[in-house]
Amino acid sequence: MDQNDLTSARAAVERACRVFVLTGAGISAESGVPTFRGGGRSLVWRGMPFEQISSARMVNDDLPLVWEWFDHRIETLSHCKPNPGHAALAEAQGSGRFDEFTIATQNVDGLHAEAGARDVIELHGNARRARCLDCGFRILTADLPAGERPPVCPVCGSAMRPDVVLFGEMLDAGSIASARDAAAMCEVCLVVGTSALVYPANELPHVAAAAGAAVVEINPEDTPLTPFSTHALRGAAGEILPALLTRAA
Ligand code: OAD
Ligand code: ZN
Repeated sequence: MDQNDLTSARAAVERACRVFVLTGAGISAESGVPTFRGGGRSLVWRGMPFEQISSARMVNDDLPLVWEWFDHRIETLSHCKPNPGHAALAEAQGSGRFDEFTIATQNVDGLHAEAGARDVIELHGNARRARCLDCGFRILTADLPAGERPPVCPVCGSAMRPDVVLFGEMLDAGSIASARDAAAMCEVCLVVGTSALVYPANELPHVAAAAGAAVVEINPEDTPLTPFSTHALRGAAGEILPALLTRAA
């Protein structure tokens, strides 16, 4: 990590009243949640690229297989706890230092909330929830019979699917609009652990930059966002976020 960059990023955070944070899979890597991309690799499950199994088309073609993939992910998540990166964000948000501290995540793991963060904008939904294909009823998957795949909606009896945004689907309009507003209003935008490849989440740091915010990227690798960042902190989120956000006593 470039110490000067950390020092100047800390100074930008110290001055800010409004902070916007966009996180991706990398913030949960140290919790044991596999990332989709990074280190020159791309995630494959049962021989299928994740883009194929995590697609709107697969919900139509083979919903039980989509459930197998999500049951596998939920099982992995049951062993994962928030790490110091999630904790540093939740602590900064709760500290009262900032007028606004908005966290938007592409992750479906719920770990920001588990670390104590409030009002997290879950741009891609939540893997622990199911949604009815017909009436839209939502429920925690753990509250449905485990053997029933696809699960049956307790309200209308139709099939249910994981309550996440898949490739080929739109994000919830309210969620992305709230995230855009917070990005446009912030003075510092932290971009943590995302390859910045997936639209429209990857536009949010550009919205912040266009409004004059400092854009601080936290990632061990370069991304397409790096040339547009004012600070690039290279390393693990669980180490950098506490160093960036914890105030000297
Ligand atoms: P990716 O898996 O594409 O990118 C993870 C990023 O985290 C990479 O750039 C890594 O270099 C970085 N990384 C790895 N370890 C890290 C650490 N300890 N600290 C900080 N960064 C680290 O994840 P996303 O950008 O979140 O969408 O992927 C975006 C979307 O693509 C996901 O939400 C998912 C996927 O398809 C849907 O499922 C709709
Ligand atoms: Zn229903």
